Amino acid sequence: MKTIHLALMGAGTVGQALLELLPTHQARFQALGLELKLARILVRDRSKPRPGVPAHLLTDEPKGFLEGADLLVEVAGGTAQAGEVVLEALARGLPVVTANKALLAERWDALREHAEAGRLHYEASVMAGTPVLGALQSLWGNQTLALHGIVNGTCSYIIQRLEEGATYAEAFAEAGALGYLEADPTLDVGGIDAAHKICVLGRLTVDPGLAWAEVQRRTRGIAHLTPQMLRQARAEGYAIRLVASLYPSPEGWVGAVRPVRLPQEHPLVQLGSGRNALVYQGHPVGSLVFAGPGAGGGVTASAVLGDIYRALSGQPGHRPLPAPAPLPAQPAPAFEEV
Ligand code: NAP
Ligand code: HSE
Repeated sequence: MKTIHLALMGAGTVGQALLELLPTHQARFQALGLELKLARILVRDRSKPRPGVPAHLLTDEPKGFLEGADLLVEVAGGTAQAGEVVLEALARGLPVVTANKALLAERWDALREHAEAGRLHYEASVMAGTPVLGALQSLWGNQTLALHGIVNGTCSYIIQRLEEGATYAEAFAEAGALGYLEADPTLDVGGIDAAHKICVLGRLTVDPGLAWAEVQRRTRGIAHLTPQMLRQARAEGYAIRLVASLYPSPEGWVGAVRPVRLPQEHPLVQLGSGRNALVYQGHPVGSLVFAGPGAGGGVTASAVLGDIYRALSGQPGHRPLPAPAPLPAQPAPAFEEV
């Protein structure tokens, strides 16, 4: 039996859900010849009440946190401290599992070589427990034409509840209670979280060098949407959704996030309302649709745990596309922005 010492950064919504899941998987790890032991848990504030979290393992000191660790799981969020810890782990040769799309999107220059080497596992970073990153890597045999997704659970939920007649304040509070919100929820409603995710998706499917600044420049959120606008669209046979897209332009592949009008029968409306959905268009495979829950503690922790299995079985992490995909001859039809 080989003992694996796991260093966990973050014990919030996702971290605590992971801590609940881990003991239920000990027998399966043992069947792989592995005994999983928590080494330390790094948080900001050790004095916070955290039922079910082993208090003796908590630390608020990043220095020494990785000593003796065999694997880092980062579910803290943010780009500064989380970035330093992740880069230190990678420099030590540890595999890293992370759900942190902000870090992946914004500090790609430092992380890219490690992702290329297969040391970074990040299935949970996009669509949480709905596994799309592995699936997109299996589509490299296609000419990608476009990709469109509802990838922010908070906005998807808020829009659905507004359509059902809830107030914005009610919908926002419910999304918080469900564990959907980022620590800074302006990232959700401002479209930035979806922009982080389309960056991650873009580097796996169309351009490994897709630049965060370019995607950020083409990002808008949902703050200006009103129930009246949603009702009007519905009366005309449409629905307004926050859609993150990858599409070709004469200058290269573009990543963008904005609210758009979609026909009611569009798969993103039919399958993505209140949750997440993705439509991939490629040749020769055609149009593929993925849909499922894209936020929440348990759902996200399940994907983190899936990555832990992969990392500990020696499987590589999520590698970006080796080179930019060729631009398709036909431009993709544009959606109507709202
Ligand atoms: P959260 O509830 O805010 O928890 C964050 C945890 O990380 C807390 O325990 C916090 O410590 C700790 N932390 C934050 N900054 C830290 C720092 N600088 N140093 C040490 N510890 C720090 O967040 P969450 O919802 O679990 O999300 C965690 C990550 O998963 C984020 O990257 C998020 O984008 C991603 N994610 C979340 C979901 C979701 O549905 N929630 C889904 C997919 C991906 P304290 O408790 O002491 O404050
Ligand atoms: N805040 C994010 C969302 C969590 O609402 O989609 C999942 O990444």
